[in-house]
Amino acid sequence: MHTLWTLTTVLPFVAAAAGRDALQSRASSGTYTLAKEYSGSSFFDGWDWYGAPDLLQNGDVNWVTEAQATAEQLAYVNAAGNAIIKVDNTTYVQANQKRDTVRITSQDDFPIGSVFVLDATHLPYGCSVWPSFWTTEAGVTWPSGGEIDIIETVNRMAANQYALHTGGADGCFGVNDTSVQTGTRTAPRRRRVITGVLSGDSAGEAFAAAGGGVYAAQFDPSGIFIWFWSRANIPSSVSSATNSIDTSDWGTPSAAFPSSSCDISEKFGPQSLVLDITLCGNWAGEPSVYNETCPTSGTLDANSCYQNSVVFNGTSDYTFAYFEIQYIKAFTSDGQFNVSVSASSSAAAATGTGGAPASQGAASSAVATRRAEVGVLVGAAFVLVGWTAV
Ligand SMILES: *[C@@H]1O[C@H](CO)[C@@H](O)[C@H](O)[C@H]1NC(C)=O
Ligand SMILES: *[C@@H]1O[C@H](CO)[C@@H](O)[C@H](O)[C@H]1NC(C)=O
Repeated sequence: MHTLWTLTTVLPFVAAAAGRDALQSRASSGTYTLAKEYSGSSFFDGWDWYGAPDLLQNGDVNWVTEAQATAEQLAYVNAAGNAIIKVDNTTYVQANQKRDTVRITSQDDFPIGSVFVLDATHLPYGCSVWPSFWTTEAGVTWPSGGEIDIIETVNRMAANQYALHTGGADGCFGVNDTSVQTGTRTAPRRRRVITGVLSGDSAGEAFAAAGGGVYAAQFDPSGIFIWFWSRANIPSSVSSATNSIDTSDWGTPSAAFPSSSCDISEKFGPQSLVLDITLCGNWAGEPSVYNETCPTSGTLDANSCYQNSVVFNGTSDYTFAYFEIQYIKAFTSDGQFNVSVSASSSAAAATGTGGAPASQGAASSAVATRRAEVGVLVGAAFVLVGWTAV
C-alpha cells in the first residue's frame, strides 16, 4: 500500500515537472488536501504578532502585540464568527506618534505544492491605508525565499495588485499574455517588485459592496497562479471545499507567474502567511501615489500622507480600514506542512505537525522541486529515496 501510494504520488509530480516545459504558462489543475484552517473562534491561533513599529515599509504604525491588539480591539472574532483585523480609529494620535494596528505571521509554513484560500467580506481601504495578505519564507534574508503578494492595495486604489518579490539579478516578471491571465501586467513598481496584475472589483468599496469574495493562490512547481472571485462568482469547488480542494474548474487566473518566466523551485522556499496593515510608508505614502486617490491640497511632500491622514483623530480615514475574514485555508498536495524544502535537508525532512497522516514523500518531492536544476528523473529519485528513509 505504501509503495502504491508512493507511485501514485510520484506520477503527478513527474507529470507536473515534465509539463513545466510543455505547458509553460498555464496553471496546472489538481486536488489538494486541507493542511491548516484559520477560522471562527480559533482564527487567531498559530500566529506570531509583530509587536514593534513598522521599520520595514516605513509605515506610520505600531504593529502591536497580541495582548495589546486584544485590549484595543484591533483583532477579534465578531458576532458573525469572522476575524476582524483593523487600524485603531478611536485614538487621538499626537504629532510624531504612530497609530496602532496589526501584523501577524503564521507559525506554520507551507511548501511548494500548496494552495492558499482567503474568504473575506471586507478588505481595508482609505487614505494612507496599505493592507496586505502575502506570503514569505521565514528565517531567510528577504527576498531570497520569495514573496507572494496575494492582496495588496494602497489608499483608495480601486483594484488589487498582485506581485512577486524574488531574489537574484533575474526576477520573476510574469507574463503579459491575456490567454493565461485575466489581469494586466503593470510596470515593475519598485526594486524587486516584479509584476503587478490588476483585476476589477477586487478591493475597496466595490469589494465590500459585492459581499466580498475569495482570493486563491496556487504555489506550484508549474508557477504561481492567483484567482479572485467576487461573492457571486465563487466556484462551488471553492465554497464547498472541506478536506480537499480541486482547482480544475477555476478557469483562467487573474495573475499568472508561470515557471516558464520564473523558476519557482529556485526562487521560493516554504511560505508563511502574513496579514498586515500599515499606513503611508514606502508605497501608500509616496507623494505621487498618495495624491492619485487622496488628492492633497497645499504642499504635496513626503509628510502629506501622515499629516493629512494619520495624526489626530483619523476617524474619517480608518472607519473602513479593516479586514473581515471568514477563513484562510492552506491546502497542500497531501495535507503535510512545515516541511523543509531546503536542498541540503535531504529527504525525510518533514516535521509533520499536520492533521493528516505523515507522508515523507511530500517532503522529498518538495526537496526535489526546490532547486531549479532538478530534473524529472532526479525528482522521482528524491521521492523514492525519501520514502526509503522513513
Ligand atoms: C477628536 O476627538 C476629540 C476627543 O474625542 C474631540 O473632542 C474632537 O472634537 C475630535 N476632533 C475632530 C476633528 O473630530
Ligand atoms: C471605527 O471604525 C468602526 C468600523 O470599523 C466604526 O464602526 C466606528 O464608528 C469607527 N469609530 C469612530 C470613532 O469613527
